[in-house]
Formats: sequence, structure tokens, C-alpha cells
Amino acid sequence: MKPLPIIFITGASSGIGKSIGIYLTEKGCKVYGTARNPAQYKNFNYFPLLALDVSKPDTIQTAVNEVLKLSGRIDVLINNAGVGITGPLEETPYDAIDHCYNTNFKGPMRVIEAVLPAMRKQQSGLIVNITSIAGAMGLPYRGIYSASKASLSIITETYRMELKPFGVHCCTLAPGDFATNIAAGRYHVAPEKTSPYHPLYQQNIDQMNAHVSAGSDPIAVAKSVYKIMNAKHPKVHYVVGSPLQKFSLLLKKVLPSKVFEKMLSKHYNL
Ligand SMILES: NC(=O)c1ccc[n+]([C@@H]2O[C@H](COP(=O)([O-])OP(=O)(O)OC[C@H]3O[C@@H](n4cnc5c(N)ncnc54)[C@H](OP(=O)(O)O)[C@@H]3O)[C@@H](O)[C@H]2O)c1
Repeated sequence: MKPLPIIFITGASSGIGKSIGIYLTEKGCKVYGTARNPAQYKNFNYFPLLALDVSKPDTIQTAVNEVLKLSGRIDVLINNAGVGITGPLEETPYDAIDHCYNTNFKGPMRVIEAVLPAMRKQQSGLIVNITSIAGAMGLPYRGIYSASKASLSIITETYRMELKPFGVHCCTLAPGDFATNIAAGRYHVAPEKTSPYHPLYQQNIDQMNAHVSAGSDPIAVAKSVYKIMNAKHPKVHYVVGSPLQKFSLLLKKVLPSKVFEKMLSKHYNL
């Protein structure tokens, strides 16, 4: 009998990560999720939640060691933990930029580094980096978030080639808008009335929050992960979102850049 696939998901206490964990458990996988402070989620009984902060390498190593002790291997790593950030670039503090990059970019790198020795030993493994459709374009007032996800997307292309000789596959999965807690946990530059970016920035924040609240059920992301796990030769980049969100990616590819920028500006009332 084939052993259960062992899955390791960062940021699995809520939203997309939690949904992936529940769905893969239903599909017969052995799931280990993580959260910075699992004790906070007393009634969480879908799958084990281990303590892990992607900005703290010792917590990552401890969680990975625990999974290896309990299950002997890690077949799939879902690098899902991430944070949002909004603000006009000019007004975004550098420590907030560092925090975003430390979580969304260096965080997944640290977790990959911790699971690779086991995957290399197994000569197999799949790493899915959760990026964002927002990472495919420089969105207004979300430039740092877009850039952090674009950076993760680009290094995935590098990982893919560097890890191929070890039998380890790597890909991105870019979601569109999904209804999660991301807006609540997001760092945002306060839209001060005295700022030259007011009131356009305020309007854009309201629009962004409305999009996330009206977003789809993250179960769609979980189903995409399962499809990727079952692909014989996973592609480098996958997308999951509404037809309109996916269409924006096609437009970015085919339209002249000035036309695309005009369209995006109109969408954001700029
Ligand atoms: N929702 C969307 O529309 C959307 C769209 C595109 C991409 N995404 C991406 O999807 C991923 C999941 O986001 P979500 O929408 O599900 O948001 P969410 O509900 O806020 O979940 C974020 C998860 O990340 C964890 N987390 C935050 N900072 C962390 C850190 N330093 N170390 C470890 N874990 C940390 C949180 O856990 P604790 O607070 O319990 O530690 C939480 O479980 C993110 O990478 C996000 O950028 C979301």
C-alpha cells in the first residue's frame, strides 16, 4: 500500500492555508499545519498545528524536525504564510517593507532550506509557493505586496532548476481574491487627510477590502493544490481566481503596456 502523502503547510490557522489543510486531510493526506501561536486556536481540531514563525529559523527547524520525527518524511511543502501591506510607496516606512519581505519572500526561503535535506534524501518532493495575481503587475497602493510576491515567483523559477537534479519539484500558485483574514492582518499606512495621496488612497483601500470580502471560498485554492500534487510534471506557474482576474493576466501579456496601464488606472480611479 502507498504511504499517505505527508503535507507541511505554513500559515494554516486561517484562510487559504486552513482550507488547503482541511481539503487535503479529506483527500487522505497526513497534514501538519503551522501557526505562530497554536495555543491561540484552542478549538482547532482539523489537523495538528505546530508553532512556526517564518521569520524565526529556530521555530522552522523545530517544526520540521517534529514532522520528520512523527512521519519520517515531508512530501509536499505549501509555503502559504504571508502578510498584506498597503500604502503609497512614498509614505511606506522601510521597517514595514522589511517586515513584508521578511515574511513573504525570505520566509518561504527559510522553510525551503529547512525541508530540503529531507526531500533530497527522499529524492522526491513538491514545493508549492503561494504567490498572488497581484504579483504579476505593480498595483497602486500595493506596490510592496506585489513586489514581494513577484520576487517569490521569480526565485521559484530558479529553485525549480536548481532542485530538479534532486527529484524535487517547485511551482507557484497565484490566487486572485479570496475571502480570508488577510485584510485584518495587513499592515497599512494610515490614510491621513493631510497626505497628498488622500482621498484616492482611502478610496482604493475601501475597494481592496470590498474585493477580499467579496472574494471566493478558498476551497478553490485547495482544489488547485490537489491537482498540482497529482500532476506528473507540474508546471512552473499556476493561477486560481475568477475568470476576470485570470483574464487580467492575459491582457497584461497581450496588450501594449500603455493600454494595460490605462485600463488598470481606470479600474482604480486614478
Ligand atoms: N486572500 C486573498 O485574496 C489572497 C490572494 C492572493 C494571495 N494570497 C496569499 O495567500 C496566503 C494566505 O493568506 P490568507 O488570505 O489565507 O490570509 P490569512 O487568513 O491572514 O492567513 C495568513 C496565515 O499566515 C500566517 N502568518 C502570518 N504571518 C506569519 C509569520 N510571520 N510566520 C508564520 N505564519 C504567519 C497566519 O497565522 P498566525 O497568525 O496564526 O501565525 C495565517 O495562518 C498569503 O501568502 C497571501 O499573501 C491571499
